[in-house]
Amino acid sequence: MLTTEENRLLTQTNAGTPMGELFRRFWLPVMLSEEVPDVDGTPARVGILGEDLVAFRDSDGQVGLLDAYCPHRGAPMFFGRNEECGLRCVYHGWKFDVDGNCVDLPNSPEGSSYKNKVTIKSYPTHDKGGLIWAYMGPIDRLPPMPAFEWLDLPDSHYYVQKLLLNCNYMQQAEGEVDPSHGAFLHSTLGGSNLFLLKIASANPAALDAMAQCAVVRDTPYGVIHGSTRRAKDEGYVVNVGHFLLPSFTTVPIFAQGGEAKGPWQNNFRVPVDDENMILYRLRWDTEKPLSDRELWEDKYEGVRFAEVVPGTFQMVENKDNDYRIDRVAQKNYSFTGIKSLIAQDVAIVEDQRGPIMDRERENLVAADEVVIKIRARQLRAARALMEGQEPSEPFTPDVFRVRSANFPIGKDGALEEAIMAKGEPTR
Ligand code: FES
Ligand SMILES: [Fe+2]
Repeated sequence: MLTTEENRLLTQTNAGTPMGELFRRFWLPVMLSEEVPDVDGTPARVGILGEDLVAFRDSDGQVGLLDAYCPHRGAPMFFGRNEECGLRCVYHGWKFDVDGNCVDLPNSPEGSSYKNKVTIKSYPTHDKGGLIWAYMGPIDRLPPMPAFEWLDLPDSHYYVQKLLLNCNYMQQAEGEVDPSHGAFLHSTLGGSNLFLLKIASANPAALDAMAQCAVVRDTPYGVIHGSTRRAKDEGYVVNVGHFLLPSFTTVPIFAQGGEAKGPWQNNFRVPVDDENMILYRLRWDTEKPLSDRELWEDKYEGVRFAEVVPGTFQMVENKDNDYRIDRVAQKNYSFTGIKSLIAQDVAIVEDQRGPIMDRERENLVAADEVVIKIRARQLRAARALMEGQEPSEPFTPDVFRVRSANFPIGKDGALEEAIMAKGEPTR
């Protein structure tokens, strides 16, 4: 449970709010690279952390991320002309480069001198790993890019999907790290937990679907959490995941028995505003290209990726159609009656008494320990920043090189040591 004040602190991310400022200390994914595919091509609208922005790829291939509105008289820059290394407002022709400099001010005699005094809000960007990343904080605190392992891989080794969800970022993050929900929300009836086995990372060696939280610890990047399921041979099957500041996670993956070998998954959530977020689901394999079959299965079954309305980031199973819940399936086969794994989660997190849940009204139990821990970590970092203590995480990029893990361990095995060791960043 959180007080109303703590809940606000956790969920509000506009400029000037403590959590909003914490987010602005990190490089954040703001859109897919393919949304601005062409030099001098069509600009794209970007909504992030309560700010309206516009992105464009200039003649040199650089991606500019500017205020969505012109500093002259507030015209929408989305309708601008993307020409010769700048975006030109169509109202009176003022033109801005990717760094926000006004490079042409043609409608007034004082334009040639006055333009040097005019700027449009702009943010630095990187185009890496299929994503456009932006840094929206103070420029004297500009950190290096986080060293996610997949950022160094060839394009063929990763795939990223972008989804728009209608809820606060933290609601979705909490749902993802929650170890005990899978045995219910993602299960099938009659003891046949095949669906769960496939999708919720319950190794076939596991005897039961219900995970128990074994370890939750603060780390240099955020929080590591390890949960166990009893194994058929009396030991345990262990699942390890991470919460990385400010809102990233590693997602537990399925092992065919033995130890999971990838592909791996990172999920990134970035607030559009306090009641909407973008979820980037990123699947990656260090050893080989992702096969068409892997991607096709993941999409067809809705296991890792969702079916979207063509031309949008909106899921086909969405709140307007009750996520296509099938009550006959719910009676006879599926715990929820909702088909895809992703929609099962989204159906819950988009409406926990609304898009921003009231955490004062909840009743937490021991199984919610990871949720409690990631909130506490997030709140601590935001409060520290409010008191002038800058976060260290953006400046230790290598701590972001972590993978989830899924492995068996004997009943006398050193569980805690194994969890901490498997969860270490790779080199
Ligand atoms: S409003 Fe953009 S140039 Fe006038
Ligand atoms: Fe889930």
